[in-house]
Amino acid sequence: MSTRNAVVRGLGGALPRRVITNEDLSVTLDTSDEWIRRRTGIVERRHADESESTSALATTAARRALDSAGVDSADLLILATSTPDQICPATAPKVAANLGLDGIAAYDISAVCSGYIYALATASWAIGSGAVGSALVVGADTFTRLLDPADRTTSVIFGDGAGAAFLSAGSADEPGAILASTLHADGTGETLIQVPRGAGSFFEMQGKEVFERAVSAMSDSVNTVLARVGWATEDVDSLVAHQANRRILNTVASVTGIPESKAEVHLDRVGNTSAASIPLAMTDAAVKGHRTPGDKAVLTAFGGGTTWGAAAMTWPSISVLDPH
Ligand code: COA
Repeated sequence: MSTRNAVVRGLGGALPRRVITNEDLSVTLDTSDEWIRRRTGIVERRHADESESTSALATTAARRALDSAGVDSADLLILATSTPDQICPATAPKVAANLGLDGIAAYDISAVCSGYIYALATASWAIGSGAVGSALVVGADTFTRLLDPADRTTSVIFGDGAGAAFLSAGSADEPGAILASTLHADGTGETLIQVPRGAGSFFEMQGKEVFERAVSAMSDSVNTVLARVGWATEDVDSLVAHQANRRILNTVASVTGIPESKAEVHLDRVGNTSAASIPLAMTDAAVKGHRTPGDKAVLTAFGGGTTWGAAAMTWPSISVLDPH
């Protein structure tokens, strides 16, 4: 029996103009380029200005994903973000309207750094079920607006940005097919990554515990989707793990047995862009051109909630614009 799968046909990214280097942060914080590079692998990140709202970045990334796919509309737009333009209403309808797609289904998903995996999985279910024919899956966050400028543990890690994919119905043997996904949440860890209730609160993260949970949750979910599609770890050509810390990427690779050289690394240039991190890392890998259509790829993320998940897909056959 032939199956109906969601297939990635286009990718796009968008980054704020302003580059903040480790040296820039060292002027006001008790930190150093050497510490940040050694402990996180990050060299620079982008900070959004007033005009570069979450919806503005999301719109640019989504438009580029449509262009990359050579299409001009989609049936569904899911925006993964935990930094919407405002709490109410959702930001996705505004992004759809900016694209001239008013009237389509559009909604936000809030799962912090796992948001993109959540959005991608739910879009692939919607397409796979036949409910819709195509979807724009966008991840966009502007977390730097919520950081305590005096907190060196969060200020050095986070950056702003957006990434997007266009997916439409196809078959499992097409390059870009989403083949399996797994999603999880454990709200008992809600205070590990949070913006506490109350006006003027800053983003807070328990870095050490998040590090440990991220490694085990991402490794377990990678193994789950690999088992589902019947791939051995040595078959994996591309590990697109949420870009939070280079040491987390390396540890997930070593725990799962996927060679470190297969891990996509984009955090050096953008830091942790939360829901944008996976589509931006995929866009960057496509720009670098070091993966081949049909390659076996595993995507995974861990984030606030706590939430985590993974997806297995084949590398899409696409051309992309460099967002840098
Ligand atoms: N510059 C210099 N020193 C710093 C620093 C910085 N930016 N941040 C922390 N330090 C110091 C600490 O104060 C501590 O000093 P002490 O030993 O005198 O107490 C020392 O460095 C080690 O701190 P620690 O918290 O153990 O560092 P770490 O190696 O765990 O790195 C993070 C901190 C935040 C980079 C790391 O824990 C991390 O990446 N966590 C996961 C983040 C993540 O995945 N988030 C996304 C999920 S959504």
